[in-house]
Amino acid sequence: MRLSAVLAFASVALAARPFLDEPDTGIDEQLGSTVANGSLAPLKSLVGLPDFQWAARRYMNTSAYTYYRNGAAGEWSYRNNLEVFQRFRLRPRVMRDITKIDSSFPTTMLGYNFSAPFFISPCARGGYAHPDGELGLVKGAAQGNILYMPSLYSSKKIDEIYAARGNNSQQILFQQVYLDGGLNDTQKLFRDIEAKGAKAIVMTIDSPGDGIRHRAARYSVGSANTDYTLLTWDLYQQFANMTSLPIVLKGIQTVEDAREAVKNGVKAIFLSNHGGRQLDSSPSSLEIALEIYNEAPEIFQQTEVYADGGVRYGADILKLLALGVRAVGVGRPFMYANIYGAEGVAKAVSILKYELANDAANLGVGDIHKIGPEYVNWKSTNAWFS
Ligand SMILES: Cc1cc2nc3c(=O)[nH]c(=O)nc-3n(C[C@H](O)[C@H](O)[C@H](O)COP(=O)(O)O)c2cc1C
Ligand SMILES: *[C@@H]1O[C@H](CO)[C@@H](O)[C@H](O)[C@H]1NC(C)=O
Ligand SMILES: *[C@@H]1O[C@H](CO)[C@@H](O)[C@H](O)[C@H]1NC(C)=O
Ligand SMILES: *[C@@H]1O[C@H](CO)[C@@H](O)[C@H](O)[C@H]1NC(C)=O
Ligand SMILES: *[C@@H]1O[C@H](CO)[C@@H](O)[C@H](O)[C@H]1NC(C)=O
Ligand SMILES: *[C@@H]1O[C@H](CO)[C@@H](O)[C@H](O)[C@H]1NC(C)=O
Ligand SMILES: *[C@@H]1O[C@H](CO)[C@@H](O)[C@H](O)[C@H]1NC(C)=O
Repeated sequence: MRLSAVLAFASVALAARPFLDEPDTGIDEQLGSTVANGSLAPLKSLVGLPDFQWAARRYMNTSAYTYYRNGAAGEWSYRNNLEVFQRFRLRPRVMRDITKIDSSFPTTMLGYNFSAPFFISPCARGGYAHPDGELGLVKGAAQGNILYMPSLYSSKKIDEIYAARGNNSQQILFQQVYLDGGLNDTQKLFRDIEAKGAKAIVMTIDSPGDGIRHRAARYSVGSANTDYTLLTWDLYQQFANMTSLPIVLKGIQTVEDAREAVKNGVKAIFLSNHGGRQLDSSPSSLEIALEIYNEAPEIFQQTEVYADGGVRYGADILKLLALGVRAVGVGRPFMYANIYGAEGVAKAVSILKYELANDAANLGVGDIHKIGPEYVNWKSTNAWFS
């Protein structure tokens, strides 16, 4: 009897907290009956990043939407990326002067100045959302004065993307690449990227195998990169030798590999599980950052650390910054926002800036660069602290 009571309680507790891929923001009640499938919700009615997913799901056809939305296998990592932020409560401090929070936003990445500590992560096939494809992402990033990292597998040609740069063509872009170990091809690609004016190369290393993507396989919209890829630290040294640009390693998922990157002189590492699209059960970047913070916190000083995955609110960014992450990437929300082109992307940037500033203020943080781990209760699931 006691056991069944416990089980009943457990099932109620689970039922009370179902996974909400799209949180209930009320958008469905407000717009559900008026926005027909295949049409665009009015941009002015969108109030948060999750709204862009709702709008994109309505507007895009199922196969295109599925390509953006999908995660690997049972999508547990995709889900964990979103949910992990709620496993750690904030520790808001009060009676602090937070009135200058906005002016503390400028953040440098590899020496380049941006207006906020977040950026647009590299995502392939921007053309699924809008005929302008990646041009909307470049221009939206320019309007918001944040970093954009174009994907190697963009819908638009690399020339068009770099030609669309704002700021008198001075807009900073870091170019993402997939490399397959072929040195001659890599050398040619690097020369191309340098000639276009990219300021760093973001080398994705979390995908040496194909991503198991059931949802996407239904519509034949799986990974563009399905062959085994040879990548080793020796090859990294040879690649680094082929370019004057700094190389950012995207897809570091353990403290051991973060240490290895530092040992290899890597200027910036990017904690990521590819938005939960590559290896199901891989950790979220918040968990990776916590592992590094607990076991080798000096790494946050030895190299620049970026992180992405599941970031949808200002407070999510704050939790990553609290551990020492320098800048936080956002993928799907900007891809969804691009159904409106640059205007939608720029609006998503403004929304996130507003949330970041006001969440920091309510947390009692007066300078975004002075946030530390004391602003979060890490004990909830942190074995090292309990
Ligand atoms: C549609 C889509 C395409 C992606 N394409 C790439 C890619 O070409 N190269 C890459 O390094 N990462 C790629 N990613 C992963 C993103 O860079 C990023 O790590 C991920 O989207 C972050 O998670 P989020 O979407 O929850 O913000 C892609 C992600 C999505 C959603
Ligand atoms: C849009 O499509 C969904 C799923 O196919 C359906 O449930 C919904 O009723 C449709 N909405 C409108 C406004 O047509
Ligand atoms: C970055 O921009 C801020 C304000 O926009 C400015 O105060 C700062 O000097 C700039 N830093 C660099 C390195 O350009
Ligand atoms: C879905 O939309 C994409 C992007 O516009 C297009 O390339 C594709 O052909 C469409 N697919 C279907 C089945 O309509
Ligand atoms: C745009 O130019 C300004 C001034 O030159 C610079 O501070 C800023 O970092 C640039 N922004 C981007 C996104 O390149
Ligand atoms: C790479 O380029 C060098 C010199 O340009 C050439 O000798 C070599 O055969 C090439 N290797 C491959 C695998 O194409
Ligand atoms: C880097 O390039 C230099 C000069 O071309 C060469 O001597 C050196 O062996 C290279 N190092 C690696 C790790 O490839």
